[in-house]
Amino acid sequence: MERQREFTEKLRRRADALDRRPLAMVDTFGCQQNVADSQRIMGMLEEMGCGFTEDPMAADIIVINTCAIRENAEKRVYGLLGRLTHAKAAKPEQVICLCGCMAQQRTVADKVRSSYRHVDLVFGPQALWRFPELLHTVYTQRRRLFSIDDEHGSIAEGMPVVRESRVKAWVSIMYGCNNFCSYCIVPYVRGRERSRDAAAILDEVRGLVEEGYKDITLLGQNVNSYGKDLEGGMDFADLLAAIDEIPGDYYIRFMTSHPKDATKKLFDTMARCHHVAKQLHLPVQSGNDRVLEAMNRRYTREKYLGQVAYARQVMPDLVLTSDIIIGFPGETEAEAMDTVSLVEQVRYDALFTFIYSPRPGTPAAKLPDPAARAEKQLWFDKLLEVQNRISAEIHQGYVGKTVRVLVDAESGDARWPLQSRTEGGRLVHLTGPREAIGTFAEAKVLDSNTWALFGEIIPSKK
Ligand code: SAH
Ligand code: SF4
Ligand code: F3S
Repeated sequence: MERQREFTEKLRRRADALDRRPLAMVDTFGCQQNVADSQRIMGMLEEMGCGFTEDPMAADIIVINTCAIRENAEKRVYGLLGRLTHAKAAKPEQVICLCGCMAQQRTVADKVRSSYRHVDLVFGPQALWRFPELLHTVYTQRRRLFSIDDEHGSIAEGMPVVRESRVKAWVSIMYGCNNFCSYCIVPYVRGRERSRDAAAILDEVRGLVEEGYKDITLLGQNVNSYGKDLEGGMDFADLLAAIDEIPGDYYIRFMTSHPKDATKKLFDTMARCHHVAKQLHLPVQSGNDRVLEAMNRRYTREKYLGQVAYARQVMPDLVLTSDIIIGFPGETEAEAMDTVSLVEQVRYDALFTFIYSPRPGTPAAKLPDPAARAEKQLWFDKLLEVQNRISAEIHQGYVGKTVRVLVDAESGDARWPLQSRTEGGRLVHLTGPREAIGTFAEAKVLDSNTWALFGEIIPSKK
């Protein structure tokens, strides 16, 4: 990190020598991990003396932080890269960087090398902390640079960060994934699990609470394996309990929790800890045991349902969400309908649903996949229909009630000018004063639909 600071300093002197402040554009695809990584990239760029823009034509540096989870995510990035040829043609000194999960794949790097010659720098998630050095090399040596070798998982602490909100913050507690679900690219692009030191996490959360952040989400591909690679014996539940001791008025959330190692201890800890939001994202992926096994998920439908029952027993108001994949290779209609029946049984508050997308290099991509896309779409539509009905019913149940919300932003909508979240993470559109942003409020729920609640702030009696 010391060395990186020297490169940052050199780049800063370079920027200071210009007659205007250089501008950077950072475009982010993918999950919260990437959002958190982009905030670090912006932190580094800011220390290099850059301002920010959203206009590619105005940018001196463009950073595209990519996602490889499904083919669509990759297509969008190639589309953007294609459009950026114009910006670069008009501004030849512009530097274009491609980073994130897609960039870590050799096939992608090769394609960019030969077909997207306007891209100057390519680096994967593990090289993120070396961004100042990489950028410095591109500038001083005036050459294209590809840094995607598998680097062995180190964890850099003390990277600068630009947070986009004053209310919500992301804190990565671990990087990488060891689970190798058979459909998933993440373990190949993000490397093995590495947990951050608990003391560093506690310091970061404490700092955020002191700065006034009220909604802090701990991030990891499988937070339940936190600490397994560390000495000291602190597991994820212990970490939550330790964070909960930090005084202040705030919520702690986390994602993602893998059902194979979600424990009673975790649910008991959640139930007991005052600051831990009663919200759980517990991706099931499928409701059929044969498919779960083929996915290498290492739990059964029955075990999963048992966990949900226990979690709800100790947290009756728990808000529960999940991820689901429809159309895994070889999945039959009956197996897909097992997933639909599980969804009926669990009654999730909301779902993130995906049609299987083959990822080259993963075991599932080699399996025969006889079902036609149109057929999978029918199963998918059925699942959505069921979940939309359930979400609408659950939301209807809030109408007339008073909920505690954290008002996090303006909505831009004249009828409901404020946006807020309940403890469980449900979206509530609100009427009320602008000054409420960044504070907790009591709100009366007036209306609801499939996706959100609508209500008014109840003025506090002071
Ligand atoms: N670590 C998290 C998931 C991160 S990816 C977890 O294990 O839950 C987010 C979601 O994308 C996954 O839960 C899965 O539902 C979906 N996904 C991953 N790979 C996919 C693929 N090849 N096709 C379709 N959906 C996929
Ligand atoms: Fe992918 Fe499975 Fe790891 Fe989640 S736990 S990131 S789905 S391999
Ligand atoms: Fe995408 Fe990488 Fe996240 S593949 S979903 S950005 S971990």
